[in-house]
Amino acid sequence: MNAAIRAVVRAGLSHDLTVWGVYQGYSGLIEGNFKRLGARDVGGIIQRGGTMLGTARSVEFQTPEGRDLAIHRLRGADIDGLIVIGGNGSQSGSHALYQMGFPVAGVASTIDNDLCGSDVTIGVDTALNVALNAIDNLKVTASSHRRTFFVEVMGRKCGYLALMTGIAGGAVAVVLPEVDVAPEQLALQIHEAYERLKPHAIVVVAEGAKYNADGLCRYFKEHDLLPGYEFRPTVLGYVQRGAVPTCADRLLGTRLGAEAVEQIVTGNHGVLVGIHNSEVITTPLETVVDAHKPLDPWFLKMADMLAR
Ligand code: F6P
Repeated sequence: MNAAIRAVVRAGLSHDLTVWGVYQGYSGLIEGNFKRLGARDVGGIIQRGGTMLGTARSVEFQTPEGRDLAIHRLRGADIDGLIVIGGNGSQSGSHALYQMGFPVAGVASTIDNDLCGSDVTIGVDTALNVALNAIDNLKVTASSHRRTFFVEVMGRKCGYLALMTGIAGGAVAVVLPEVDVAPEQLALQIHEAYERLKPHAIVVVAEGAKYNADGLCRYFKEHDLLPGYEFRPTVLGYVQRGAVPTCADRLLGTRLGAEAVEQIVTGNHGVLVGIHNSEVITTPLETVVDAHKPLDPWFLKMADMLAR
């Protein structure tokens, strides 16, 4: 996100705009927590994860009064356009502000990759690399002890992170919210992997799946599903959100941030700026919010095909 903030500020300045940073997300918007940003204020942030502006989940912004106050603050500060960097929740908010007549542009950013209007969103590549590093490290113990690891990755209700981690990490199986797999079937897949003389079994589990990593381990124990083999859960959690951003993420953030400024300047408001087939695109926010982004069935097939 910092790459996007840096790009917004510097692209804005190159258009002779005055750029303000809104601190702490929509909470900060409601409180008028703004600070004018110059080129140097966003120096040295591109290599830092997270957001220099801070973020917050705001209950007040979900009320009409909260949104009225947000617009009042923006107008009071003579702000003519707002760029919202974030995922589904943030873009529902930006859409609401746009419907109330305020010029906005969204930038597609969430590690979950569950936002329509962008093939991939800011943070995904970094989060995937964290998960892959973790799996590479886990494989040392897994191979030495011939253990199974259930590695849980984030993603909310979306299995994208788990699916891609599984494919790139050589998992014997992936467990996703989008696909119902009985633990007994999973046990069979793991057992067969050992029969094929695999030294270990990595199963990548999406946090939003019916059984998470702990749940699966409990179920396996209670039903004695993998007799003779040891298994352990490992929950990666928030470490996935804190890494040094990859080159792909820095470039994506930069491209989307700079393009969002163009949209504000040229009057193409109420859109999400995302990427499709390597090209920066815009999509009306109204078609993005509440839309479901399905997993690519080809990747599902590939995960299964390559887990041999
Ligand atoms: O949406 C990003 C995400 O990291 C999800 O993957 C995760 O489920 C959620 O946020 C965690 O939310 P919170 O930071 O509120 O605990």
